[in-house]
Amino acid sequence: MTRLAFFGGIYNNHLALAAAIADARSRGVDAMWCLGDLGAFGPHPDRTCELIRENGISVVQGNYDHSIGHGLNDCQCGYTDPRDNRFAQLSYDYTLDHTHDEHRAWMRSLPAQQRLEIDGVRLLLCHGSPRRTNEFLWESTTSTQFLAKLCGDCECDVILGTHTGQHWARSFDPFAFINVGVLGRPENDGTTNVWYTLLRTVGTGRSPLPWEVEFVPLAYDHERLVREMRDERLPEEFIETILTGWWTTCLEVLPSKERRRGRW
Ligand SMILES: [Fe+2]
Repeated sequence: MTRLAFFGGIYNNHLALAAAIADARSRGVDAMWCLGDLGAFGPHPDRTCELIRENGISVVQGNYDHSIGHGLNDCQCGYTDPRDNRFAQLSYDYTLDHTHDEHRAWMRSLPAQQRLEIDGVRLLLCHGSPRRTNEFLWESTTSTQFLAKLCGDCECDVILGTHTGQHWARSFDPFAFINVGVLGRPENDGTTNVWYTLLRTVGTGRSPLPWEVEFVPLAYDHERLVREMRDERLPEEFIETILTGWWTTCLEVLPSKERRRGRW
């Protein structure tokens, strides 16, 4: 049996990342992958980079990592609402100012995609979608036909991504798409936990896919994260999300179905 752990956006939440690494190790995973967006939102970006690199976690480059690595003017998150962009810029400027040059050089070197073949199953790891790093693939607005076309075009069986901040999966024989969630902040569900994803092989062949997907809710010391965010003078709107589990920013990008699940 092969077990793989996938972490989505970390958003500087080094405390959740440390908890996820420990949790995945306790479950006997064979490898851990991060699907990009190491920075944003939280405090002390270098701590996330150090944890990722010290633990040998392979990383696919997210839009944030591309921007920070190249010193661009913004995060390329893909928001269109002015308020969303104002908050995104606050966290981007903080992260750029506090990321060591050596970590930025490493971010520039990260691959935009990665392919794995395990027990005959072809996995494609990306950040948003295989066709665009910052593409939002939401559960409610992404058709199965479109996902099947992506898998066919990319000659893979399973696509894994993150970027939206909310985990979901769809199996459509013989393909699957998995959004692995994010460790950086709660998923707008009124709980303080964050999520990562485990894949386990349960057989061989391609139809049906010989994999089990488990979305893992992860508790971590979110009160300590809040203390660190306040010490760094990060926005109280971000802190409210960490404490309540409800998003207070970057809501306008949500489709109506995903928005109705939240408080605001
Ligand atoms: Fe992203």
